[in-house]
Amino acid sequence: MSITILAIESSCDDTSASVIRDGFILSNIMAGQDIHSKWGGVIPELASRAHQKNILPVIDTALRVADITPDRIDAIAFTRGPGLLGSLLVGTSFAKGLSISLDRPLVEVNHLQGHLLSPFLREQESAAALPSFPFLSLLVSGGHTQIVRVDDYLKFEVLGETIDDAVGEAFDKCAKIISLGYPGGPLVDRLAKSGNPLKFKFSKPRISGYNYSFSGVKTSLLYFLRDSIKDNPDFITQNINDLCASFQKTLIDILMEKLIKAADDTGIKDIAVAGGVSANSGLRERIICEGERRGWRTFVPSVNYTTDNAAMIGIAGYYRYLAGLLSSLDVTPVSRSFNI
Ligand code: KG4
Ligand code: ZN
Repeated sequence: MSITILAIESSCDDTSASVIRDGFILSNIMAGQDIHSKWGGVIPELASRAHQKNILPVIDTALRVADITPDRIDAIAFTRGPGLLGSLLVGTSFAKGLSISLDRPLVEVNHLQGHLLSPFLREQESAAALPSFPFLSLLVSGGHTQIVRVDDYLKFEVLGETIDDAVGEAFDKCAKIISLGYPGGPLVDRLAKSGNPLKFKFSKPRISGYNYSFSGVKTSLLYFLRDSIKDNPDFITQNINDLCASFQKTLIDILMEKLIKAADDTGIKDIAVAGGVSANSGLRERIICEGERRGWRTFVPSVNYTTDNAAMIGIAGYYRYLAGLLSSLDVTPVSRSFNI
């Protein structure tokens, strides 16, 4: 029997809906929110209002592109958290309304588990290889930086995580310091392509185990620029590409050092990367290159599935549905990390 899941993602500033049938993507529709760029960051109040406006057309389009009518849906998966509470409330409430009106079960999904299962996202005709359990995932986004051992579709163990800023925040803060726009990650990535990554050195943290820290490297950039500008007020504009390339290389070195350690210690050779920062061209190249040297099978998502999307919520929801893990109608969103 075929299983069709309608999935809804609204944890931050992207409204997305997807239809997944038997683990394959039939549609994945996204509506971004340009409104935040002029404020230099996501404004929660504006994000929830934009979700309210976007959610109906996005779901309607996802159903039309998948060429299904609502009565063909077997369950509604939605992001319960973590994320912005007002944003999560829009998706959760809409999912509940659909569940009641269609008389179909609700399946809550942890947003991070969605990112972690994104290597399983594929379209019907795709013959791409899938990771075997257990695999390691480097989860890098605007809110999280973790190394996770994925034992199963439902079992995840965090081996290490950041003790302060997430790596996406480090990219965004670097962009802010050198007066680029928001979100800064893609802008730093683009400028870094024509810069010299060895031109400048920034301090790296010394943290034990598999944990990360990114606040020191950001401060190191800040102090370095403060001193350099004293001697030459045009220092940033004259060196912008080299600054981006060197800062990006430092972040990637920090990420890779712990990932390599975790792979060596566990002996796991299936290595994935997920989350918004996995769109970074330097990081993608390094993981693939390191994988070739070390005999890893690497799983780097297509750029469409790096940032927040409902397809990853659909795939995680599909496996929860198969395991009978349904949610009741009194389920509420959670803004912080949580276990399910
Ligand atoms: O996963 P995501 O879409 O949202 C969260 O769950 O946080 O990640 C957003 C983060 C932002 O910090 C953004 O700057 C970063 O991903 N990002 C990038 C790139 N594209 C997005 N960072 C570096 N290079 C990129 N190409
Ligand atoms: Zn995310």
